[in-house]
Amino acid sequence: MYTEKVMDHFQHPRNVGELENASGVGTVGNAKCGDIMRMYLDIDDNQVIQDVKFKTFGCGAAVATSSMATELVKGLTVQEALTVTNKAVMEALDGLPAVKVHCSLLAEEAIHAALWDYAEKNGIQIEGLKKPKNDIHEEEEVNEEY
Ligand code: FES
Repeated sequence: MYTEKVMDHFQHPRNVGELENASGVGTVGNAKCGDIMRMYLDIDDNQVIQDVKFKTFGCGAAVATSSMATELVKGLTVQEALTVTNKAVMEALDGLPAVKVHCSLLAEEAIHAALWDYAEKNGIQIEGLKKPKNDIHEEEEVNEEY
């Protein structure tokens, strides 16, 4: 049911954790299942994403897609990071079962929320970036486990 790449990223997720003093942090919830994702971005003065970490209280597909998404955005500019859509992540994982496609949205939305946070803090605009609709306020805690 799952591809080898999905299983690999689920069993050995990359970039799990958090970043102290992150340039941008985004926390989103999946409306369909109630799962939660938090993404941390470390962005340098040239607007290049130098580091990224995530934590999720979500299913295996959410873990795998987030892991792959963090790999894909690392090293990109904040503008280029918008090309890392859930579709792009699924392609990089060689596909997801249809019932799990919604899980891949968590990663994309969390990255967008973190970019939005970064843009707001720095008074800049990222062309094409929309305010994330599933944003969760900071006071709602994310489970410590991924
Ligand atoms: Fe909730 Fe997959 S079932 S993110």
